[in-house]
Amino acid sequence: MIRERFEVMSNLKKIQPIKKGISGEIVIPGDKSVSHRSVMFAGLCDSEVKVTNFLHAADCMSTVNCMRSLGVQVEELDENILIVKGNGFHGLKEPQTIIDAGNSGTTLRLMMGILAGQKFLTTFTGDSSLSRRPMGRVIEPLGKMGATIVGRANNRLLPITVIGNKEGENLQGITYKMPMASAQVKSAILLAGMNADGETTVIEPYTSRDHTERMLEGFGVKLKKSGTSITISKVDKLTAPREIHVPGDISSASFWLVAGSIIPNSEVILKDVGINETRTGIIDVLKNMGADIELINVRDEVEPIADIKVRSAKLHGTTFGADIMPRLIDEIPIIAVAAMFAEGKTVITGAGELRVKETDRLQVITDEFNKVCSNKCIEGTKDGMIITGGQKDNLKSVVCKSYDDHRIAMALAILGASGAGIEIESSECVNISYPTFYDILDKFE
Ligand code: S3P
Repeated sequence: MIRERFEVMSNLKKIQPIKKGISGEIVIPGDKSVSHRSVMFAGLCDSEVKVTNFLHAADCMSTVNCMRSLGVQVEELDENILIVKGNGFHGLKEPQTIIDAGNSGTTLRLMMGILAGQKFLTTFTGDSSLSRRPMGRVIEPLGKMGATIVGRANNRLLPITVIGNKEGENLQGITYKMPMASAQVKSAILLAGMNADGETTVIEPYTSRDHTERMLEGFGVKLKKSGTSITISKVDKLTAPREIHVPGDISSASFWLVAGSIIPNSEVILKDVGINETRTGIIDVLKNMGADIELINVRDEVEPIADIKVRSAKLHGTTFGADIMPRLIDEIPIIAVAAMFAEGKTVITGAGELRVKETDRLQVITDEFNKVCSNKCIEGTKDGMIITGGQKDNLKSVVCKSYDDHRIAMALAILGASGAGIEIESSECVNISYPTFYDILDKFE
């Protein structure tokens, strides 16, 4: 019999330790980044696109609602299958109301890129987390292209209005050297570049996830790539693929990669996971730490996909920094959990971008994970942290805050399940990216 492993008390979730290991198969839900882009790009076509394995989670629904406000039809055949019917590349319409991007940075930043070259006005709002996140990093380069975008705090924060330029006042291509590696910033500029005269080039310090580039090529757009530089030219039309199959999200799989590694007697297969190499930094780091991870059934669709087998292993500490960071940017909270169970020290540097995610993740990891550990085992640094491992027997069951950050809540849940248990406040925020997360965790005893 499966025990009741958590209780819901006004969003307080109690997680019990898993004693028997995790086993069997876990089907990983659709990739958040690819789901957003599927709806956005399909919505710029003039024929129907079927999106399968769409991630039906709060963030992606922010994008669906945004595209609907702009006149795109999105029919939900079931939770994970959408039919998107746009009005062509120049067919977006001025929304009648303010668009709420919710918690979703991807929705807001990519949509600013798409809307920069439109001839109508769009105003965005968002939740309290999104309203604190820096948007100047997109507004500034789009402004250099000739877009008129205004926002609070000197054009840096939500609410934001993209004021369409007059007929004949086109965006102009630029060459932009990005100060940070960010797929959201890169994508916003490339998407604006589709409506700009001449060529638009972005240069990143390190390559971030390349879903925008791959998918735009799938929609018939020509890109020139050289090292970390990508160039796009003006586009008249996107050619609709009949169907887009969204691969499983490696960021969601990462919680089971770590749980399967650190909980004794585990052997689990994660099904249909996207293994695009701009996303697989977590696998490289865990393997460096001694994890037993095997890719099976590797196949190539628009994105490479595999099943991933993970077995319990003895992990040891590791060191990594800025060069790998874009390939595992969302996985630092769960890597910190792995490091707490590994022998020796783990040193993470070059992670300053974590300070501007859904929460200041460097601060929250240090504050909340240290509550669980009797020794203060995580020392925060300016751009990372130093984690002293070997803490399995020093963990206590305490109440921790998620700060409404989905990835913090899930990392805390795995920390508790692998250790002495935990209670998580505002636990429902997992709905942002992985609504079925607790249902799966709850199956393991
Ligand atoms: C995303 C890019 C990343 C990532 C976010 C999703 C995307 O953000 O953290 O969860 O879909 O492009 P940055 O590109 O700002 O680092």
